[in-house]
This record gives sequence, structure tokens and C-alpha cells, in this order.
Amino acid sequence: MNTFIKVVSTGRYLPEKTLSNTDLEKIVDTTSEWIETRTGIINRHVADLETTSDMAAKAALQAINKIGYDVNKIDLIITATISGDQQTPSTSNFIQGKIGLSHKHIMAFDINAACTGFIYALEVASTLIQTHKFKAALVIGAETLTKLVDYNDRNTCVLFGDGAGAMIIEHGEDEAFFSNASYPDKELVLTVKNNKIAMDGKKVYAFAVTVVEESINKILKLAKLKQEDIDILIPHQANIRIIQSVSKSMEIPMDKFFINIRDYGNTSAASIIIALDEYLEHHPSTKQRRALLVGFGGGFTFGSAIITL
Ligand code: ACO
Repeated sequence: MNTFIKVVSTGRYLPEKTLSNTDLEKIVDTTSEWIETRTGIINRHVADLETTSDMAAKAALQAINKIGYDVNKIDLIITATISGDQQTPSTSNFIQGKIGLSHKHIMAFDINAACTGFIYALEVASTLIQTHKFKAALVIGAETLTKLVDYNDRNTCVLFGDGAGAMIIEHGEDEAFFSNASYPDKELVLTVKNNKIAMDGKKVYAFAVTVVEESINKILKLAKLKQEDIDILIPHQANIRIIQSVSKSMEIPMDKFFINIRDYGNTSAASIIIALDEYLEHHPSTKQRRALLVGFGGGFTFGSAIITL
């Protein structure tokens, strides 16, 4: 079922404290140059005392305040995260309180689909909005991954950062397309167990390149569109080399991808919505634009969406 939505507003929040490649040189056996050339990352943000819901609430309030949105219209909150505040209540429940929504007619819950989480959450929210049972959804991707990072493991600790992004959607005229999928990671190539991220980077890399291409092709076919019909591609920001590889093999110019991994690292479920919000801020336009979002992550999960901005 295709859905008809309107992207009403977006927002993002990155914690103030940063951790640069040079800082990491003092923590693990690495070099700034290795990290930058192998991943494209130079900096990442770190939430010290802030929780995932603290950051998410700030991103949500930015989306709300940017357009003076009537917060009471929101009756659905879905947060994609693998680093929520607690097992229960859900991070969405905490966010509900922090943005001042104390009324009871809200449905609020979290989604765990690793780095594809925001696209999963957007599909679920759009489908629920489509039923007309809900008026407005706040869809969030938020992570405090640095709390799950093993700073003894140079293979992973250089990759991840913290942050949050939020989007408000309502029922609208713009057709949105989604293609989300998963299959079991039988070898447990990518896990967060006992609060520590563990990953076989090479295998994840190979999986990522394959499924990103597959997802882009699938969503274009579903929407009956061509690459040229897309104004901007917003990929999950895990490693610039994954994006370069897809760009080369699919013959999509690099400037068609919005990339901000340099400043934030991999923020998992938050990465696509942070990038989308930053893209909108840096490229204001009165014209409607078509964005293709594509993500992949632990699970394995992968997925794509075409939405109108
Ligand atoms: N500094 C210096 N050397 C390092 C570092 C580091 N930080 N990390 C690894 N190395 C070393 C390795 O030990 C290895 O040394 P060796 O040859 O002596 O054994 C060498 O560098 C090469 O390691 P590779 O693993 O071959 O490096 P590669 O080019 O594959 O890059 C990386 C590793 C960056 C992890 C890459 O494989 C990658 O990005 N994979 C995908 C990761 C990803 O996207 N994860 C997120 C998924 S989304 C989610 O759901 C969380």
C-alpha cells in the first residue's frame, strides 16, 4: 500500500561535546589519517550526561518550533533507536513527557531496526497516518551509541557517534514509497550484546554495498521512477567508501548523495534524519523535491523510501 503524506517539518540535535580523530589517537592504537581515509570520519559528537530521549526531545522541539507547530496535533510518536534510555518505558514515552504532551490520546513506542530504523519508523508512521486514525506523527531517530562503544576495540570505536533527528508528518497529497526488509544475521556479524557493539567490519561492508544497490533499484522500480527523477539521495552514513562504491557501480554522481559522515560518524538510526534535516537547512527551496532515503544495519535490516520534501 502506498501512502500519502506531507513532511511538515524536521529538526536535529547533536550534543555539544565532540571526539575528534586526534582525540581517539590518545585512546586506541590508531591514526587520524587511517580513520579519515578508511571511513571519511573526522569528528563525532558525544552525549555525556544527556540521554537518548533528552537529545530526541530537543530535535523534536526544533522541528516543532521551527514552524510554530501546534504540538497538541501530535497523536503518534515513533522512535527508532538501539540505545534507548531504558528497556521500559519506551524512549518515545520519555520524549512525550519532555516535549510537554501529557494528554492520553497519544500512541508512543520504539522501533529497533538498527541503522535502518528511521526508514522502518517512517513506513509504520505513514501507514498509520494513512488510516486517518492519527492526525500527526513525530518520527524520530536517536542514539547514544558512544555508551555502547568498546573503547578498547579500535575496529569499532572510531566509527560511532551520538545524535538525534525528528520529522513531523501528516496525511497529505504526496505519495511516499517504502521498501523495508530483513534477513537473519546467522553469523552474528553485527551485534550489541551486554551493552557493547561488536562487528566484523569487512562482512558488514560487503553486505552494505550489495543491499544499498538492491534497495535503490527496488524503490525506483516500485515508484516507477528513474535515477534522474530523484533530487537527492540520503544514505545511512556508515562509511564514505560504501557510498563511493555504490556511486561508482550504479553510475550515480557523488554530488547526488548528501554526506555529513565527516562531522558525526555513524549515528545509526539517527543518521538519515540528521542528514535530511541538514540537507534542508543547507539547500532551502520553494520547489518540491524528491528524496530517496536508503539504509542498512544490524539484523540484517535494509530499506529505502522515496518521499517528497
Ligand atoms: N586504526 C588503525 N588500524 C585499524 C583500525 C583503526 N581504527 N581499525 C582496524 N585497523 C586495522 C586492522 O586491524 C587491519 O590490520 P591488519 O591488516 O594488521 O589485521 C587493517 O587496519 C585493515 O582492517 P580492515 O578491517 O581490512 O579495514 P577496512 O578497510 O575493512 O575498514 C571498517 C574497516 C572501517 C570497519 C570497514 O570495514 C567498514 O566500514 N565496514 C562497515 C562498517 C559499518 O558500516 N558498520 C555499521 C553498520 S550499521 C549498524 O547497524 C550499526
